[in-house]
Formats: sequence, structure tokens, C-alpha cells
Amino acid sequence: MVKENPILILDFGSQYTQLIARRLREMGVYCEIHPYHVSDKVFQQLMPCGIILSGGPASVTLNSNTCAPDWVFDSGVPILGICYGMQTMAAQLGGEVQSATTREFGYAELSLLQTSGLFADVEVLKPNEPSLDVWMSHGDKVTQAPPNFTVIATTTNTPIAAMADEQKHWYGLQFHPEVTHTPQGNAILQRFAVTICGAQTHWTAEYIIDEMIHTVREQVGQDKVLLGLSGGVDSSVVAALLHRAIGEQLICVFVDTGLLRHNEMQQVKTMFADHMGIHIVWVDAAQEFYAALAHQDCPETKRKIIGKLFIDIFEREAKKLSSVAWLAQGTIYSDVIESALSQQAGISEVIKSHHNVGGLPETMHLKLVEPLRFLFKDEVRKLGLKLGLPAAMIQRHPFPGPGLGVRILGEVKQEYADILRQADAIFIDELRAAHLYERVSQAFAVFLPVKSVGVMGDGRQYGYVIALRAVETIDFMTAHWSELPWDFLGRVSNRIINEVHGVSRVTYDISGKPPATIEWE
Ligand code: XMP
Repeated sequence: MVKENPILILDFGSQYTQLIARRLREMGVYCEIHPYHVSDKVFQQLMPCGIILSGGPASVTLNSNTCAPDWVFDSGVPILGICYGMQTMAAQLGGEVQSATTREFGYAELSLLQTSGLFADVEVLKPNEPSLDVWMSHGDKVTQAPPNFTVIATTTNTPIAAMADEQKHWYGLQFHPEVTHTPQGNAILQRFAVTICGAQTHWTAEYIIDEMIHTVREQVGQDKVLLGLSGGVDSSVVAALLHRAIGEQLICVFVDTGLLRHNEMQQVKTMFADHMGIHIVWVDAAQEFYAALAHQDCPETKRKIIGKLFIDIFEREAKKLSSVAWLAQGTIYSDVIESALSQQAGISEVIKSHHNVGGLPETMHLKLVEPLRFLFKDEVRKLGLKLGLPAAMIQRHPFPGPGLGVRILGEVKQEYADILRQADAIFIDELRAAHLYERVSQAFAVFLPVKSVGVMGDGRQYGYVIALRAVETIDFMTAHWSELPWDFLGRVSNRIINEVHGVSRVTYDISGKPPATIEWE
């Protein structure tokens, strides 16, 4: 059982918390993120071999409520506080933290003051004056270490940049070992998790697959399981995994909404039905979707219509399959953490209502099976490759649930969707041919329902406008537009105008996020 004795990460709200978990998982260490104030029941259930206190936006000097529960320091396991985690640790254990007038943000040179268990494996810059490049992002700082702690590293701006109680194996780092800007960060995290806490490093794709197959078989027994297959990475990996675990007990439903990309249904058919032999129920609902979307041009209304119709159709198909007891979903760990966080913060504001199968109604009376619930996206991808899914499918850019519905501005019509599909396919083909597809995080075409004049041959053509969008981003929360080469953009534009009937002009979107979003809606 590889989930035995994980590392428990208590989340104080840092944007980097998920990164800490991903770094540990990449080294094969299983870990879980929980809100900082969880009760010791979580500790009793997980029996972690170590605890990490993440960074966060709070200030020890202003808000003393945001602190680690007492059970953390009574748990007897090693503790690592990172940034705010170190500050709250210092304050709670009798040290001092002062608010800073200026923030320190960026690289700093960290001088190691004495050998510490935590730094034993790191490669230092200069052997006789051991130091490391580290990444800082903080305002407050620890000005006095708690009793029994020694200062183990310092920087010019932060005299107490790392502290340790070596006996108890309690450590505090003011810098962020989890970001790639701290080159020895992985070595430090590995030292803490593996050497100091004794965490196992079995969390590999093979183990995950074995464990999931075992769990799913136990969970569903001989029952039938229903899965909405979309061709996206998560549902594809769930399909491949469940097929391996329960074979013919898996039934997939694929709904053609008329808002899919070029050839999408065919690709799913080739891979899952022809190649793997998975039982798929095909539903051609394109005309139903176009009819429901007629005369609708409000983005949020369009999303709601698409989401609701999808659910209605899915439910309708499920009812025909009376023997099904389970519904499989491709929920992944970031969805779980984010929804826990927004519930905790009471965030009710909907920026965009997302349409994923996640909203299926309880009236379906199906039990849920969510095998990817504890996996990050990069782990899901690795799993997919191990399960034999093609790299092109696994590395595919994200595609929104409402599909081309958010990429056709204003009213959705079949004519527009057909034009957009062709233009998008040309853009993506050219990106792949120029080896640019992997360099951008997401690229697609957008249909603008405005007409603009062009000259084709000897005649004037009054055609639609296609906008091309390509962005680079790590987390899709912020994004830069990609600086694609001019000659490449020129080639794509020529091909679209020449090959896609009805288009007379192509533009390239150079808006960053924020303020623009990635999708146009
Ligand atoms: P925005 O447009 O908000 O998009 O900058 C951020 C990322 O989310 C994707 N997106 C969606 N994904 N269901 C999804 O699964 C949706 O309803 C949805 N809307 C946007 C978008 O493609 C981008 O990757």
C-alpha cells in the first residue's frame, strides 16, 4: 500500500502549495494537501511521517488566528515550515516575527551557517563559503528563532532565512524550495521527506495503476460503470484505466454536441472502440444543440444551455442502460483542492460556469467512482502514457467543456461551427508541422460573426473573420500570448483564407491574461 505514511501538507493558501505536492509526488513520495486548520482526525487517518506547513498570504503580526493547530507540534513527526509556515512556526513556538516595510521578491544568495540535516545533500555554489541560490517572496520575517532552534542559513536581507531544531527535526525555510527558481529546492525537499521523515518513494505510474485497478475492482464488484467520454485527457485516462480494471463492465457514452473539433469523434472511435474494444454508446445530438442555441448570444446563457442539454442527454442515455450502478468521473486532485478551498473561503461568485460532467444530477442515483481524485494533471498524463494512450492524445491542449460554443462569438450555428472546425484544424496542423504545438500551452481559432471585405481572385468576397489565439502559461490563471513567428502566422492565414470557404480575414490575438481571458467566449 503506497499511500502508507504520506507527507501531510497543511495549506495556508499559498499559490505554491500545489507545487510542493507535485515536487514530492515527482520523487515518488505520496502526499496530501489539507486546509491548515484540519483536526487531528486527519492526522490519525493518514498517519503521515512528516508535516509541511505551506506559505500563505496571512501575516503573523496581524492575524494570529491563521496558525497551525496545536496537535501539529504534539504529533512527534518532523515538520517543515515554508515561508509563512516558518513564520507561524516561529511565532507559535516562542520566537519573534516582524512585519516588513518592503517585500523581498526574487533571487537571493543563501549562506549556510552550519551543517544541518536538511542541507546535507545539496550541491553548494562555493565549497569553502557554502551558499545556494534561492527564491524569496515574503514581507514579514522571523527576527528571533524560538528556543532550541538554531539559525542554519542567512541572506543579506533575511538574517534568519532558515532555522532548525535538529533534535525534533523541525525546520523553517523563509525561501521557497518548491519553485524551480531554487535550483537545489528538490534536493532539500527530498532530504526532508525521504531521509528525515523516512517517506517511501513508491508513488510511480506503475504503482498508481496497480493500486487503482485493485481499488476500483473492490469498489464496483460485478456492477456496470458508466463514463461520459469526451476525448479529453482526464476522461480518456479514466476510460483506459477502467477498461483495464473491469473490462466489459465499462460502458462509455460519447455525445457529439456539434461543438467538437475536427475529427474528434473519429479519433475517439479509432482509439477506444476499434483499438481497445471499449463499449461506446454514440449519441449524435448536434442538431439538438444547434436548435437549443439558436438566437442565443449571451455567453453565460450559452454555457448554461450547453451544460444542461448535455446532462439531459447523458441522463436520457443512462436510463436506457438499466443495469448501470456507477458513474465514473475524471475529477482530478486540483479540482478537489480548489473546490475545498472555495467552500472554505465561501467563494460563491461564478466567474464562468464551467460545464464538465461533474454537474450530473443526484436523481441519477448512481454511485460515484473517481479514480483520478488524488492525481495531479501531470500524473494523469504519465498514467495515460503507461496505459498505452498515444502521446498526441495525452499532450493535447485543454479544450473547454462547452467546446466550440465558447469559441463562436454570439449565436452558434452549424455553418459557423463548420467554418471554425476547418480553420482550427489548419492552425493546429501547422503548429504541429512547425514543432510549435508543444511550445505553446493552448492554441485555437475563434469565429467572429462579423463580415469583412476581401478580394479573392477577381471578385470581392464579403467573408467572416477568424482570430487565432496561442498562449503560454503554467497554470492557466495568467497567460502570455505566444510570439509565434511572422512567417508561420502568414502561412496559417493564407491557408485559412484560401481553403476555408467563407473566411476573408485572419487576425492574431495579442492580449495577455489578465486582463483578457484565454477563451474569447
Ligand atoms: P479562461 O478563458 O478562463 O480559461 O482564461 C482558462 C482555461 O480554462 C479552460 N476553460 C474550461 N475548461 N470547462 C473546462 O473544462 C469549461 O467550461 C472551461 N472554460 C474555460 C480554457 O480553455 C483555458 O484552458
